[in-house]
Amino acid sequence: MDLTHRPRRLRQDRVRGLVSETSLEPADFIAPVFVDATTDDRIPIETMPGHERVPIDDAVDRVEEVLETGVEAVMLFGIPESKDPEGTRAWADDGVVQEATRRITSETDAYVITDVCLCEYTDHGHCGPLEAELRGEDGGAYDHAADCDPALTVDNDATLEALDRIAVSHAEAGADMIAPSGMMDGMVAAIREGLDREGYERVPIMSYAAKYESAFYGPFRDAADGAPAFGNRRHYQMDPANAREAMREVRLDVEQGADVLMVKPALPYLDIVGDLRREFDHPIAAYNVSGEYAMLHAASEKGWLDLEAVARESLLSIKRAGADLILTYFAEDVAAGLSEGD
Ligand code: PBG
Repeated sequence: MDLTHRPRRLRQDRVRGLVSETSLEPADFIAPVFVDATTDDRIPIETMPGHERVPIDDAVDRVEEVLETGVEAVMLFGIPESKDPEGTRAWADDGVVQEATRRITSETDAYVITDVCLCEYTDHGHCGPLEAELRGEDGGAYDHAADCDPALTVDNDATLEALDRIAVSHAEAGADMIAPSGMMDGMVAAIREGLDREGYERVPIMSYAAKYESAFYGPFRDAADGAPAFGNRRHYQMDPANAREAMREVRLDVEQGADVLMVKPALPYLDIVGDLRREFDHPIAAYNVSGEYAMLHAASEKGWLDLEAVARESLLSIKRAGADLILTYFAEDVAAGLSEGD
C-alpha cells in the first residue's frame, strides 16, 4: 500500500509521550473533604466508597492524608451541629468550617478552599432563606410549602447578605479561596464586596458559575445531609438543556470579579467546559461530582469496569475538554498512582 498518512506511526510506545497533548498532575486536583460537627468518629459515606465525614478533631489528619498523595488543595464542606431556617451556623465564628479551616491552615500547607452555600445549614435544605410566603411562624418552611407555587423558593437578595457574612467568616478563619455554589444572582459581587471591605482583597473567588440542576448530586446530598425538604433546586440551578445560558451566567460572574470559573457536573457537561475554554481566558475548573464517582465505583464493584483506568480516563477527558483544575473524589487515588509513576 502506498499510504502517505499513517497516524499509527506516532502511536508507538517510544513516541507516544512526546506527542501527548494532555497530562494529569496531582497539582491539578482539588480533593473534597467533609467535616462533621455532629460526630466524634469518622463516618463512612455509603454512597461514596472510600470517603468519610470526619470530626473536627480529625480534620488535620484527613488533610494530611490528602497531601501525602501529592494533591495540594482541598475543598471543605461542613455538616453543622444544628440547622435553622436562616442557616445561621454557616457564618458562626465557631462554626464547623471556620474551626476546621483555622486548624488546617495553621497546621498544614494545604491550600484551603471553602464551599460557600447554605443548603447544609438550613433546616429546609434550600440554598438560602426562604421567601416570606413560604415561611412558617418560626421562620422555617411553612407546612404546606410543598403545595405552594413552585416558583417560590429561596429569597435571592436576603441570601446575598448571608453569603457575604459566610465568605468573610471563612476568610477570617484563614481560607485561601472562597467557592460560592448556591447559584444566586449577584453572589460573586456580594462576596467580592464583602471580602474587599474587610481587607481580604487577596482572597480569590472560584465561582460555581455554570452549575446545573443535576441528578448526579444524589450521593453528595447523602454525604452532606443537604437535600431540600421540599421542591427542588431548579429555580436557582441551571436547566441541563441549556448551553447558551451558561455563557450568560458565566459572563455575569466574570463581570462581578470571579477569578476561577467552574462547570458542574463535569462529564455530562464537557461541551460547556469546551465552550468556556474558548470564550474566556480565566482558569476553568470542573467538578467531577458525587454521582460520577458513585457510578464508576458501582460498576467496578460488579467487575464491569476497571476503576483505576476509568477514573484516570475520566479526569484526562475533563482536562482535554479544557479544564485546568478538577474537583474530584478520585483525587487521592489517581494522584497516588501518578506519583508512583504508573
Ligand atoms: C451545595 C453543593 C452541592 C454539591 C456541591 N455543593 C449539592 C447541591 O447543589 O445539591 C454537589 C457535589 C457533588 O455531587 O459531588 N450547594
